[in-house]
Amino acid sequence: MKVKVGFIGCGGIAQYHAERLVKMSDVELVAFSDVAVERARSLASKYGGRAYSDYKDMLEKEKLDACFICIPPYAHTDQELLCAEHGVHVFVEKPVALTMDKAVEVLKAVEKAGIITQVGYVRRFLDSYDSSRSLLLAEGGRVGLFEAWWIGGVAGGPDHWWRRRELSGGQLVEQSTHLVDQARWMVNSEVEEVFAYFETELLNDLPSFNIESASTVVMRFKTGAIGCITSTCAAQPAGMDVNFRLIAKNMELVGAGWNVIVVKGEEKKVFEARVDPFEVEDKHFIDCVKSGCETKVPYLEGVKALEITLAAVKAATEGRSVRLPLTNY
Ligand SMILES: NC(=O)c1ccc[n+]([C@@H]2O[C@H](COP(=O)([O-])OP(=O)(O)OC[C@H]3O[C@@H](n4cnc5c(N)ncnc54)[C@H](O)[C@@H]3O)[C@@H](O)[C@H]2O)c1
Repeated sequence: MKVKVGFIGCGGIAQYHAERLVKMSDVELVAFSDVAVERARSLASKYGGRAYSDYKDMLEKEKLDACFICIPPYAHTDQELLCAEHGVHVFVEKPVALTMDKAVEVLKAVEKAGIITQVGYVRRFLDSYDSSRSLLLAEGGRVGLFEAWWIGGVAGGPDHWWRRRELSGGQLVEQSTHLVDQARWMVNSEVEEVFAYFETELLNDLPSFNIESASTVVMRFKTGAIGCITSTCAAQPAGMDVNFRLIAKNMELVGAGWNVIVVKGEEKKVFEARVDPFEVEDKHFIDCVKSGCETKVPYLEGVKALEITLAAVKAATEGRSVRLPLTNY
């Protein structure tokens, strides 16, 4: 069986997915939609399939099995709801929405429809991360501390949605959400309380820029473990660094690029990243669509990561710690 795939949103990350999906013998790329129709046309001419300016049209006219939703954070309105109505399985890029109301509405709809869902937390599909985590769960003992940092730059130019809080949610909600998901996954616990400070002066000479230029988020997990995620988009180009460290009773995991160094007593072992994690995540989704099994990162996981980042924004704004859940779901 060939899984018939369509796209909503044909920008940067859509291109990444399409490039990988087109090589899979059990996938047929049948349609691309984008409000900027020339982008849909460009992917359709490269990978096959028809181009649409309106995803509603695409969902009406095409018989899709699955849809990749690759739109900016602010643009999530009814795309997932319509896919659920049409019984079309959904791969959606992070962050799943900008509000808990929208995320919970979609969560209920996709669960009711019984469609397969996956959120684009690509780090979970790195072999080095996955196997060092398995070792941690088996032999690491109690986890005490997770820390991670995203020391990067500002994505896009003055007109880009990334630098507007109302469009992207800010660096933490849009980008460091990867690290928040990784924290939940590796610590293997839910977060129960969040505190955060945001720095908002450093980059406010940039045109249109109204997000945080740096943030520190402190989390307490239900297990008692603590976590800290530090982010900035004010790094010097040569100073960029995205990484993590985890301290458990019997073991330490230290990120080294996409590799992970596992430290045990006097010994260090490197778990090398040998796969293209985007290819692995896309293949996992397609396999789940074919088998009907739930994916490793269903929509609920995206809701939980979003909730932590929104709690951090609230904590930074209100100057107090915020307990989860923010809302019932
Ligand atoms: N997993 C990852 O590593 C990763 C990497 C990059 C981006 N992303 C996520 O992917 C999403 C998209 O990011 P991007 O970098 O591809 O953005 P982009 O701006 O390059 O592309 C987004 C596309 O969506 C289109 N669009 C906007 N509103 C639409 C709508 N209502 N209907 C149809 N199309 C619409 C735009 O015209 C644009 O072509 C974001 O949520 C981002 O956080 C994830």
